[in-house]
Amino acid sequence: MSIEEKLERLRKKQDEARLGGGEKRIEAQHKKGKLTARERLDILIDKGTFEEFDMFVTHRSHDFGLDKQQYPGDGVVTGCGLINGRITFAFSQDFTVFGGSLSEAHAEKICKIMDMALKVGAPVVGLNDSGGARIQEGVVSLGGYADIFLRNTLVSGVIPQISVILGPCAGGAVYSPAITDFVLMTKGTSYMFVTGPNVVKTVTQEDVTSEELGGAMTHATKSGVAHLVGNNEAETLLLTRSLLTYIPQNNMDDPPFVETTDPHDREDPELNHIVPDNPNKPYDIRDVITRVVDEHEFLEIMPDWAQNIVIGFARLGGKSVGIIANQPAALAGVLDINSADKAARFVRFCDAFNIPLITFEDVPGFLPGTAQEFGGIIRHGAKLLYAYCEATVPKITVITRKAYGGAYDVMNSKHVRGDMNYGWPSAEIAVMGPKGATEIIHKKDIAASDDPAKTHKQKEDEFREMFAHPYKAAERGYLDDVIEPKTTRPRLIRALNMLETKRDTNPPKKHGNIPL
Ligand code: HXC
Repeated sequence: MSIEEKLERLRKKQDEARLGGGEKRIEAQHKKGKLTARERLDILIDKGTFEEFDMFVTHRSHDFGLDKQQYPGDGVVTGCGLINGRITFAFSQDFTVFGGSLSEAHAEKICKIMDMALKVGAPVVGLNDSGGARIQEGVVSLGGYADIFLRNTLVSGVIPQISVILGPCAGGAVYSPAITDFVLMTKGTSYMFVTGPNVVKTVTQEDVTSEELGGAMTHATKSGVAHLVGNNEAETLLLTRSLLTYIPQNNMDDPPFVETTDPHDREDPELNHIVPDNPNKPYDIRDVITRVVDEHEFLEIMPDWAQNIVIGFARLGGKSVGIIANQPAALAGVLDINSADKAARFVRFCDAFNIPLITFEDVPGFLPGTAQEFGGIIRHGAKLLYAYCEATVPKITVITRKAYGGAYDVMNSKHVRGDMNYGWPSAEIAVMGPKGATEIIHKKDIAASDDPAKTHKQKEDEFREMFAHPYKAAERGYLDDVIEPKTTRPRLIRALNMLETKRDTNPPKKHGNIPL
């Protein structure tokens, strides 16, 4: 065979692999409003930088006539390329080949790039669009999933892992994305569930569609499984690229520095008036965040779930930070089961990947009630406390208003190794709010009084005067300073610069036992 013929053979094989399951199935994929595995990678990866691995890998199954159905690549495109100029490994499941189902060979391809990503120290992005375990391969396919789960777990905290769901992701297959750091979904075309609508109907008699059971908005608003949602595939893939701009390549690396034209010393006079005089009046903590951070840009994570806490990424003076903020505009900013879970996982991600934590605090306490107590608010609240306690990245807190009770301790107080703790003059720091405190400690005085309402009010005012300000905490050094709100940005940037070389460690151990 001449070299020309050999080259021709190679090109033919490559073309065959690039066609996946064939024109008809590609057409069907497009008709559903979905892109193909390769079209998705074209959006995710910087143009012309994708290096494909294992294009010619095929399955080894002979049962059910599979030996006569061979598709080079076996339903998943794997490789590495640049995202925003940085090496990233990716796999993209090809629904046009056996419904993107996972065979032994398909799993091996995914494991290969995960192993390589770990060695190189680079993130892995998985584009999921699969009918699950390749039914014809039986337990071999289940083993393939377990091989992936194991790697997801072992590389967790070493390299960032992002799962993008762009089609079905059902059964045990959901547990790979669930272990990864971020799950992104697309409205209308992606769904995740452990058991589908038919099984649900049989077992619980509930009538539910795939969309209702496991669509993007279900996971973004009800279950807290999805971190970000795109309106279409392109938007979801671009969101993935944005997310990666805040994240380092691995746990030994720093997040990328992004030069900003936003002056480091920019003050914002509006911040002096953002907290209402009435302590029971809400305001949107996102207005505080966006006024403080570089270019007012804030990538909020899980914006539609547990809205009483806001989490997300931004930059201060070009440095990536993770922001955690109680949200007075939702449930008065109380901590509850879901908000504690949401923030705890985020704190741990940032700590694992050297991203400093900025906490904006306005929290009246934990949400009371049987639903919360029976649901285990003790266990769940403890996760957030644990996460803050163990975190060793730079940790800065700004108390904008309320910091009451155990929630004061939890939200990165000085006592749990907060590095710089600031209070605005509107900060109120006490065991509980003036009304509740007065009812307890002056119960007898109020009952014995000729005018209980007046006495209550008087005692409440006394308590407010004594505790509803930041100075008791500042006297103790629990606050490093009380700052004018308008100076928050420059103060945070200066603190971050000071903390740049911070080193802190925890006692050596195999791992802690976070209350799961
Ligand atoms: C082999 C599969 C497959 C699978 C789909 N296909 N799922 N082949 N194994 N798991 C094939 C179909 O035969 C079909 O082949 C093509 O993919 C497209 O499938 P359609 O059914 O035509 O597509 P659609 O109508 O869009 O429905 C998609 C679907 C459905 C909802 C995903 O295919 C489906 O329900 N599949 C089975 C899902 C499932 O139960 N999987 C196992 C889950 S348990 P042709 O040749 O016609 O194009 C699991 C365990 C994981 O995954 C364990 C981890 C611990």
